[in-house]
Amino acid sequence: MAPTAEPSRRAPDSPLGLDAPVRLRTKDLLSIGDLSPDEILLILDTAEAMKEVGTRSIKKVPALRGHTVVNLFFEPSTRTRTSFEIAEKRLSADTVNVAASGSSVSKGETLADTLRNLEAMSPDMIVLRHASAGAGHLAARLCGACIINAGDGMHEHPTQALVDAFTIRERKGGLAGLRVSIIGDLLHSRVFRSNLRLLRVLGAQVCACGPATLMLPDMERLGVRATTSVDDAVAGADVIMLLRVQLERMRGHFFPSRREYFQRFGMTMARLRRAAPDAVVMHPGPMNRGVEIASEVADGSRSVILEQVANGVAVRMAVLYLLAGSRRGAAPGGPALDGGSGWDRAGE
Ligand code: MLT
Repeated sequence: MAPTAEPSRRAPDSPLGLDAPVRLRTKDLLSIGDLSPDEILLILDTAEAMKEVGTRSIKKVPALRGHTVVNLFFEPSTRTRTSFEIAEKRLSADTVNVAASGSSVSKGETLADTLRNLEAMSPDMIVLRHASAGAGHLAARLCGACIINAGDGMHEHPTQALVDAFTIRERKGGLAGLRVSIIGDLLHSRVFRSNLRLLRVLGAQVCACGPATLMLPDMERLGVRATTSVDDAVAGADVIMLLRVQLERMRGHFFPSRREYFQRFGMTMARLRRAAPDAVVMHPGPMNRGVEIASEVADGSRSVILEQVANGVAVRMAVLYLLAGSRRGAAPGGPALDGGSGWDRAGE
């Protein structure tokens, strides 16, 4: 189905090529629900400008010079943590990484006390990943720093959904009217919850598929078509988004074995043939090959999985940059970029 192009917000004469105030209304990014449709488009447009920075020989601009960003990760992460750190460095922020295993949490300190102690050192932003839903909301109440939710339990992972929307828009030109099928462990997935909100705001038609035991209650009320048939979900889809089976969040048995899961729900080349001829395959990672996705699909020509990873840096740069603007109450035109010319002074 042909997507409807979103209205362009670009204006070539502004430092970022944007015609909107270069900031967000909120101090924190905790959920996709924090963002208006215009702010979502602003982030996606800003990420395009940020992506260009990544193509330069010196991939660095001074936009966040003098800002301190703490990456506080209480759960494992490869892509999200690394892409935030690269994004911060490309914007010239000073970054500090704190992992649960090396912090005082391993000595019994509470999350609230850890946050109060970090706040005492006046960081400008804290990127937080935690196993508990709502951890970001607690941090936002306790800290003056901007809080970016990098995944809170089963609740939300807003920057991943923004990365996914950016990647779909780049490939398809827009999201309105696109048929997006999300297949996998829906129940435990914060990526699903954030994507569901974002895709609906941008006008995509969402179909959700997984074992009945891994569905959310009242799926139809959430505005998605729910099915337990992968063949049904894949038929005619423009985008197929696969989700990992999140064994670490499961208490009890939700399906008989990984082998049977793959047989019933795994994405194979045979199943993929039922999708639209130009359908793309996505996965937020980490992938379990032979469980939710066959290797030949993961590595095949329809896969945009590594594009999602690459776009993660640009989208996170955009979020950091725009939140910095909101923190400083920046005037239209955005946070100080050294009088406007700073944006171009790469590598300072
Ligand atoms: C997440 O942190 O939620 C990941 O991006 C997806 C996953 O762990 O399966």
